[in-house]
Amino acid sequence: MNLLDGKLISSQIKEEIADAVSEMKKSGKKVPHLAAMIVGTEGASETYVAHKVKACGQVGFESTLVRMDAGVSEEALLAKIEEINNNDDIDGLIVQLPLPSHISEEKVVAAISYKKDVDGFHPINVGRLFIDQPCYVSATPNGIVELIKRYNIETSGKHCVVLGRSNIVGKPMALLMARKGYPGDATVTVCHSRTKDIKAVCRTADILIVAMGRSEFVTADMVKEGAVVIDVGITRVKSEKTKSGWKLLGDVKYDEVAPKCSYITPVPGGVGPMTIVSLLNNTLKAARKELYD
Ligand code: GUN
Repeated sequence: MNLLDGKLISSQIKEEIADAVSEMKKSGKKVPHLAAMIVGTEGASETYVAHKVKACGQVGFESTLVRMDAGVSEEALLAKIEEINNNDDIDGLIVQLPLPSHISEEKVVAAISYKKDVDGFHPINVGRLFIDQPCYVSATPNGIVELIKRYNIETSGKHCVVLGRSNIVGKPMALLMARKGYPGDATVTVCHSRTKDIKAVCRTADILIVAMGRSEFVTADMVKEGAVVIDVGITRVKSEKTKSGWKLLGDVKYDEVAPKCSYITPVPGGVGPMTIVSLLNNTLKAARKELYD
């Protein structure tokens, strides 16, 4: 069994990005600038945004954290987005999801300029992904593709089973694995809560990508010998064994599944850090106007 070490690969990619930023500075260009908006103080979102802001600092990006009260009106939030859309100093804008229920996520995502949509959530970027045109790709699936590339994992003709059909992970992941080229050219099956005999489908997977949001859902009897298993799940549960009193669990029962795999991502230290560097990469592309001017 080999580890798909997202922590290691992401630190290499961060160095590459930091070098690119140094080059930009040397040639008199402004450094990439990411704005992150957070509404309210939901625990997990706070942690994710803090990681993103910290990562910006590590590679020499500028970042702006915009905090809004949980009770902020949709109108005020949209007005702030418009202000950032029009601020030429800011290259990328993300609004951390989920949002409070009185605010329409659909409206918010659509309000972000697709040129600054480094999360790849805007309908224009999602649509362009669908028809294989250059676009910002959602950070988690993009990070997984990068991990597959860096470990030279064969994907052509393989059966890739994706568990989960979210707009952010499952759907774009399926498209990326099925598209022409490398990584891609896989035969893809998407499973979800209504799939019949999900265990049997999983057992046919050469590459199993799990994004169900159900901790330790995938057990050893669901995995083919030699499969590549990629675990997107991350759930915090109480633990008496750790100093903090918490531990993180993936969607895969790691201890029993790992011995059967050719490659597997750990949790934490697998997909999570790759997601962050994807966002940084998208922000670098935005600053360089690689996709849109
Ligand atoms: N919530 C969960 N994942 C993400 C993400 O990648 N971006 C944003 N903006 N919100 C999220």
